[in-house]
Amino acid sequence: MTQANDLKAWQTRAQAQTELLLERLMPSENEMPHKLHQAMRYVTLGGGKRLRPLLVLAASELGEAEQTAVEQAMAAIEMVHVYSLVHDDMPAMDNDSLRRGKPTCHVQYGEATALLVGDALQTQAFDILSRPTALPSERQLKMLSVLAKASGSSGMAGGQAIDLNNVGKAMSQTELERMHGLKTGALIRAAVAMGALACPDVDDEVLARLDDYARKLGLAFQVIDDVLDCEADTATLGKTAGKDADNDKPTYVKLMGLAEARRYAEQLVEAAVEALAPLGEKSLRLRQLAQFVTARKN
Ligand code: IPE
Ligand code: IPE
Ligand code: MG
Ligand code: MG
Ligand code: MG
Repeated sequence: MTQANDLKAWQTRAQAQTELLLERLMPSENEMPHKLHQAMRYVTLGGGKRLRPLLVLAASELGEAEQTAVEQAMAAIEMVHVYSLVHDDMPAMDNDSLRRGKPTCHVQYGEATALLVGDALQTQAFDILSRPTALPSERQLKMLSVLAKASGSSGMAGGQAIDLNNVGKAMSQTELERMHGLKTGALIRAAVAMGALACPDVDDEVLARLDDYARKLGLAFQVIDDVLDCEADTATLGKTAGKDADNDKPTYVKLMGLAEARRYAEQLVEAAVEALAPLGEKSLRLRQLAQFVTARKN
C-alpha cells in the first residue's frame, strides 16, 4: 500500500469514529428544546474534514493512551471548532451562507438559534471533557485548561476579534502571523496537546516538541485556508469561494500573493515535520497529517 493510500484508509476510519462519537454525545432532537438540538446536530454531524479530532488521535499514538480521555478530547475539540464556524459565518462576522456544502446555521435556523448553538456546543465540550476517565486527575485538568485557554480571548476568540478589527486594513507579516496563530492555530495546538496529555507516559520534553510542530502546522493550515479561498471553487470548498477578497479580509494571499503564500505554507509544514524527527515512527500519523494540510483541496 502506498503511503497516501494508507493515510486515506486511516483518515476514513478516524473520521467514522469521530462521527460515531459525536452522534452518541450530541443531545437527541427528540429532547427539548427540539429546534436547538436539531440545529446542534445539523452543524456537527455529517461533514468536515475532522482534522482536529484526527490530530488528537494521531498525537495519542505517542504513548500509552487512555482511550476514554482520547475520545472525549476528540469530541470536545470538534464541538468547539464547529461552534467557532457557526459564529464565524454569522452576519456580524463573515456573513456566509454556505458551510460544509449546506446552508449555514443562521440561514437554516435563524440568528438567535445560531448564537445558542455556539453557546451550547462550547459548554457541552467542557462537560464531555470533564467526564470520568482513568487518567490521573491533574492530567485531565490540564486537558480542560488547555482547551479553555485555546478557545478564549487569548486563543480562538481573541484571534477572531483581531480579524474583525482589521477588515480593510493592511497588516504586517508579524501581525498576521499572530492573528492566524490565535484564530486557527490555537485549537490545532490544543488538539495535539490533548492527544499527548491523554498518555500519562508522554513527558514535558515531548509535549514541547509537539507544540513546536503544532504551532507551525496551525499557521500553515490557515495560510492554505487563505490560498484555497482564492484558488478553489465553491463546490469543492463547500463554503463560498472568494469570500476574503469580498470582505476585504487581511490574509496571507493579500500580503504576499498566491504562489508565495503556498510556498510559505509548504516551508512551515516541512519545519513542522522536522520537529517530529526525534519522535520516530510513533509520529507517523502526525507527519502524514501535516503533509495533508498542504495537499488538501478543501
Ligand atoms: C475552517 O476549518 C475554518 C478554519 C479554522 C480555517 P476547516 O477547514 O478545518 O473546516 P472543516 O471542519 O473541515 O469544515
Ligand atoms: C475562521 O477563519 C477561523 C475560525 C475561528 C472559524 P475563516 O473565516 O477564514 O474560516 P472560513 O474560511 O470561513 O472557514
Ligand atoms: Mg472569519
Ligand atoms: Mg469565515
Ligand atoms: Mg477562510
